Amino acid sequence: MKNHFAISPQGETTSYSNHEYKHYNRDFLTSRNRTEYDYRIELQTNDYLCLAQDKRIIDTKIKHLKNYGHGNAVSRIFTHDIGADDLNHFETRFAKRVKAEDAVLTMSGYNANTGLIQAFACPQTPVYIDQYAHASLWEGILCARAKARPFRHNNIEDLHKKIRKYGPGLVVIDALYSTTGTIAPLADIVHIAKEGDCTIVVDETHSFGCQGPDGAGLVVEKGLEKLVDFRTIGLSKAVAARGGVVVGSKNNMEFFRYEARPMIFSTSVLGYEVAGFNKVLDIMAEEPWRRFKVKYNHATLKQGLLELGYNVSASDAQIIGIVIGDNEATTPFKEFFEKNEISASPFSPPATPAGKSMMRMTINASLEQEDIDQILNVCERALKELDTTDWVCLQR
Ligand SMILES: Cc1ncc(COP(=O)(O)O)c(C=O)c1O
Repeated sequence: MKNHFAISPQGETTSYSNHEYKHYNRDFLTSRNRTEYDYRIELQTNDYLCLAQDKRIIDTKIKHLKNYGHGNAVSRIFTHDIGADDLNHFETRFAKRVKAEDAVLTMSGYNANTGLIQAFACPQTPVYIDQYAHASLWEGILCARAKARPFRHNNIEDLHKKIRKYGPGLVVIDALYSTTGTIAPLADIVHIAKEGDCTIVVDETHSFGCQGPDGAGLVVEKGLEKLVDFRTIGLSKAVAARGGVVVGSKNNMEFFRYEARPMIFSTSVLGYEVAGFNKVLDIMAEEPWRRFKVKYNHATLKQGLLELGYNVSASDAQIIGIVIGDNEATTPFKEFFEKNEISASPFSPPATPAGKSMMRMTINASLEQEDIDQILNVCERALKELDTTDWVCLQR
């Protein structure tokens, strides 16, 4: 039996074994569950913990549907107080998991972000937003008709300068960035934001489930839950579902419930979906090996790419962006991946800055050493077989 080791968020070394892993049947893990049209190695999925095909979650949802049907598909505004006990219970459970006072379920991560900023910012509010923050956070600024005051990615000095210039407002960041895989310097940002009397919004869509105790995210991992005012979590990544959550203080969440336009003018997630979320929370707590394996796989692949000469040092967690340059240069690399049966995501503007098109790889728990060797082999051959003259990732 082969043993692998990964460092857990608490810092202890945790082992998982192939035996333990195979117990859950590789065929049910996303990257193994392919049709003849699928690629051999899956580096495109957001299903980091490989739960999308998990029979236990599927059975839970089916059972709920059989017992209760779809339930009442109405706007949540009608059911905060009565009529949606399962949703209310999930919110309480989720808040506890991420050490927040209260939580509100939304229809998606996109709705969580647009609704939050629309509800809490007004046209006079300066919104200090990291230039790489997710599009839905930028959209929220538009919904609020507020003033975006972007700062350079993860750049504390620039944030500090802008707050000094424009005064108290909202500081808006991702905990783990979806294209670069960089982690925000959370403690420094919180310090500067608080010093400038700002309110802090952290999007934990990519970190929830993979970082922190029981997957509670990076804010909890860093012990900053009392200082960060709002966290948003899209459930489309590690939770492998459709939905979102906003967490914060009791007062603020009560305000959000009745003021965020998506909470009023769009239909809520349904009971069977919530039954699925609950099962995912159970599995995250019971099977920490999934997130340890994601960390291990990321560390192994990143190290291998660095050794080949790819500059992927920006990647701190399970997302690795290989920046090529313009779209024309990126296309042959994408085609090379496809030809070699690896599925990764080509990203170009507006998802990246101009001239920074990339191939984005997301790392999941189903990858084995042989898969990582295969990816590295393809990346090594790409360096020999493609014209790499202008590749940004090779420039020092
Ligand atoms: C950082 C981040 N926030 C929010 C979202 C939106 O989440 P959802 O897909 O649940 O609407 C995404 C999705 O890509 C994301 O990457």
